[in-house]
Amino acid sequence: MKPITLRTLRDMKARGEAISCLTCYDASFSAAMARAGVEVLLIGDSLGMVLQGHNSTLPVTVADMAYHTTAVARGNQQSLIMADLPFMSYATIEDTLANAAALMRAGAHMVKLEGGSWLSDSVRLMTQGGIPCCVHLGLTPQSVNVFGGYRVQGRDEASSTKLLEDARNVVAAGAAMILLECVPTDLAKRVQETVDVPVIGIGAGPHCDGQVLVVHDMLGIHSGKPARFVKNFLSCGDGSIEGAFRSYIEQVKSGEYPAPEHAFAE
Ligand code: KIV
Ligand code: NA
Repeated sequence: MKPITLRTLRDMKARGEAISCLTCYDASFSAAMARAGVEVLLIGDSLGMVLQGHNSTLPVTVADMAYHTTAVARGNQQSLIMADLPFMSYATIEDTLANAAALMRAGAHMVKLEGGSWLSDSVRLMTQGGIPCCVHLGLTPQSVNVFGGYRVQGRDEASSTKLLEDARNVVAAGAAMILLECVPTDLAKRVQETVDVPVIGIGAGPHCDGQVLVVHDMLGIHSGKPARFVKNFLSCGDGSIEGAFRSYIEQVKSGEYPAPEHAFAE
């Protein structure tokens, strides 16, 4: 199969084929996801929680991200590989460019960073320098202490207007993708209609151009009560891990996932 590029994803958005994305942190899972046909692998800074056992993503370093990105990149030649810039690694333009370059050298094809319109200059400079960017909007977990917990974002008029404006501004600055986490279904739909780049959702309803889940969550490995948007795909397939990935892809593409019970109506 031909390698997935941003062009592939833009074509998928244009023809209405949903994009499947999962987090991935090592070479074996990377290979299995490629065999199943997952289009985008995200080395998420969620690795601070699911691999390292922290209770937030804040302790994760650029070196941690680069280490896991290298492993994922070795695992397959087919998926588009996106790596998170971790907490406070993009506070200044100089840091942003140097840290994003480190992740690209480790094997990423694009980077993701959390924020809004204030990222516009960074996004423009990275894109000009050859680093495609995804901007993560809505519930941005690196800001958990600002939010006062992991909560659905964009629920009132002011914050939903701001989120839509943020999406427009970062796309105007060159963002190649938007990731929406935990926002009401209607707001996600408005973002998807407004921007001409792929919009990937998690807890953002069925109208996004694609979906992402943390791989541990979709395999049923979690302590405590899973988030509303989580579905266990290990019990949907043939019982194998690759079967779970295949079921996920199938259900994302058919629209069976996410169902209303996985989304926030308002
Ligand atoms: O770090 C991560 O896994 C993420 C996804 C949940 C979107 O950013
Ligand atoms: Na992340």
